[in-house]
Amino acid sequence: MQHNWQDLAKIVADKLEAEPIKGEPKELYEPIVYTLSMGGKRIRPVLVLMAAELFGQASESSLSIAKAVEIFHNFTLVHDDIMDEAPIRRGKQTVHEKWNRDIAILSGDVMFVKAYQELCLTKPEHLVRLLSLFNQTAIEVCEGQQMDMNFEQEEELELADYLHMIKLKTAVLLAASLKLGAISADADTVQADLLYDFGLNLGLAFQIQDDYLDAFADPDQFGKKVGGDIVANKKTYLFLAALESGDETGKVALKKAMQIEEEPAKIKEVKALFESLGAKQKAKEAIKHYSDKAMNALAQIERPEETKKPLQELAAFLMQRGV
Ligand code: IPE
Ligand code: IPE
Ligand code: MG
Ligand code: MG
Ligand code: MG
Repeated sequence: MQHNWQDLAKIVADKLEAEPIKGEPKELYEPIVYTLSMGGKRIRPVLVLMAAELFGQASESSLSIAKAVEIFHNFTLVHDDIMDEAPIRRGKQTVHEKWNRDIAILSGDVMFVKAYQELCLTKPEHLVRLLSLFNQTAIEVCEGQQMDMNFEQEEELELADYLHMIKLKTAVLLAASLKLGAISADADTVQADLLYDFGLNLGLAFQIQDDYLDAFADPDQFGKKVGGDIVANKKTYLFLAALESGDETGKVALKKAMQIEEEPAKIKEVKALFESLGAKQKAKEAIKHYSDKAMNALAQIERPEETKKPLQELAAFLMQRGV
């Protein structure tokens, strides 16, 4: 039996709630409970379970993988918020703001290890394959995060550099979640790899959408600081598409706007240029392009069409989300 993404997100949330990561000293563990209990969309664990259900059924092992990837994802967010100096996440203070930077580093570290502990609860016959994919993915996420930070200082970047960076920092984890789930359901390798490819393209669309929302989301529902990427000089899809618009005057205006000291004025000016230089529109087209590519990969998977419906619905939801 297959579930839709809302049901699966609930299964994941229930499991996380039933097994809280508690311990002493409280300064180390409270931020973990805080982070894992403040929700989020739970996309990655849902992808694990959907992949398992596409090829068979979600076992206890699949559920452990789901929990492991969600804990890992939350670890990356706690550390990402330090690097990005982000004040809010999911509508609440970030861990380094609520406690402090050292606590955010160390409780993040514990989450990283907890993810491995959870992964080690899976069936022994799958463990080597699961661990090797998980390890590779975790390293790639760090590589992507370092590139993201390097890019803050770089002037001459192209969309191709950006796509490589977001593939690593974001897309590989969505892709790996699917493949890990497929492995837990004994899917054949060719099929599992097609699902990985679906996840990579979905992940590219997902991060471009994340960049889009960072500038254009409704502040009341977004849960993160709107304009945070602009303030941090992030080389987002919007920024690079604006630079590549071919409008020389616009390009100069954008570089000048990025120098504005006062935050609200900088955000307002840069957003206006994203619109007038066509970057807002181009981002929407890119989101559609990569989600179409994802759908093509999904179409090639040798499973009955109706079994792909939960993944199709999840992908459609992600592309029109506001959070
Ligand atoms: C945020 O991920 C980080 C990115 C890779 C863009 P999500 O948008 O999945 O965050 P939550 O877990 O739903 O809060
Ligand atoms: C986050 O990218 C990617 C990882 C956490 C690995 P962002 O920095 O754009 O994510 P948000 O917008 O803070 O969620
Ligand atoms: Mg961030
Ligand atoms: Mg970041
Ligand atoms: Mg972002």
